[in-house]
Amino acid sequence: MAVVVWRRCFPWVRLCRRALLGSIRHYRAALCTELKQPLAIEEVAPRPVRPHEVRVDVHFCGVNFADILVCRGQYQEKQHLPFTPGMEFSGTVLETGTEVSTVKKGDRVIGVNKFNCMAEEQIVDQKALWQIPERVSFREAAALPVSYGTAIMALEHRACTRPGETVLVTAAAGATGLAVTDVATKVLQARVIAAAGSDEKCELAVRRGAQASVNYSRGSLKEAVRGLAGSGGVNVVVDTVGGDIFLEALHSLAWEGRIVVVGFAGGTIASVPANLLLLKNISAMGLYYGQYKNQNFPVFSKSMSSALQYCQQGRIQPYIGAVFKLEEVNDAFLHVTQRRSMGKVLISLK
Ligand SMILES: NC(=O)c1ccc[n+]([C@@H]2O[C@H](COP(=O)([O-])OP(=O)(O)OC[C@H]3O[C@@H](n4cnc5c(N)ncnc54)[C@H](OP(=O)(O)O)[C@@H]3O)[C@@H](O)[C@H]2O)c1
Repeated sequence: MAVVVWRRCFPWVRLCRRALLGSIRHYRAALCTELKQPLAIEEVAPRPVRPHEVRVDVHFCGVNFADILVCRGQYQEKQHLPFTPGMEFSGTVLETGTEVSTVKKGDRVIGVNKFNCMAEEQIVDQKALWQIPERVSFREAAALPVSYGTAIMALEHRACTRPGETVLVTAAAGATGLAVTDVATKVLQARVIAAAGSDEKCELAVRRGAQASVNYSRGSLKEAVRGLAGSGGVNVVVDTVGGDIFLEALHSLAWEGRIVVVGFAGGTIASVPANLLLLKNISAMGLYYGQYKNQNFPVFSKSMSSALQYCQQGRIQPYIGAVFKLEEVNDAFLHVTQRRSMGKVLISLK
């Protein structure tokens, strides 16, 4: 139906498309033509690569909560309609621009882009690509950029998590949550208390490395964490939910604890009671992972290289909960928004 709407609204596009399809190769892409409406799948004519750009044959694209917010017009960065969502992908290099020196045709790569990744083909600047090491599959690799990049940046760069510390992570069975648990326990030798919205999610988080779990749909997160961590509390919180869950997590921090604000999946942005920060010398900090690409590229690039290296070494192992085809992209979005997803959700383009 969305395709019909798209064609009704943009008849010139259909005409151009027909003319182009007759003469040149084309590829399929998910298109957001109207905010808060289902995405359409359209055929798109490729454009030439510029000197510093690379054309990639996409194998998998990650589905992130942020993609859904973008398509609802609720993300911090807005995009003009129509546009293709998607922020990360894995694939094979098809073609390189004349000034590209970092990759060559046939290389296996992961990449990031603000939008555009939910398509069979992708053109990106060479700076936004990283080589996939031998032992990492396209599936695993596609799960790394946003979720593991965010986990590494939150735990290592922002919270400076130390071995033996206790980390509380919310939405712990989600894509970011499981990545945080994986990095905290397997790389940083920290302990993790996983907080999630169902018993099934809690069990998964524990199977994936968390030492303990709390189902916050059953009662007070703060009380449950006190029972697990003792009156001292936890050293680090990584919160992706916001609202009351954020406030309860903030109350669960120990002396010199650090809380990293990563997202507001619950839809409510809480205010920080400043007296709590003073009383226990707590640091509250934000993380907007994608902005590191513009503001501090070396740190961003290091987080991507670390994710790939940890995966190659077998220290981390992304959990892929569901894989949808491109034409099922709207089902993939519903899977996440209805809180049914666990781990990473991918779109397969093959
Ligand atoms: N700041 C950054 O750079 C950055 C980077 C990555 C992600 N994020 C943010 O982190 C959050 C998680 O992203 P993700 O892609 O990893 O998603 P996800 O965690 O795989 O899925 C979202 C989870 O949020 C929880 N949730 C709580 N209330 C919800 C509600 N009302 N509707 C839907 N979900 C709800 C659910 O887990 P429970 O049932 O366990 O509560 C759900 O499974 C999002 O807010 C995202 O924008 C931010």
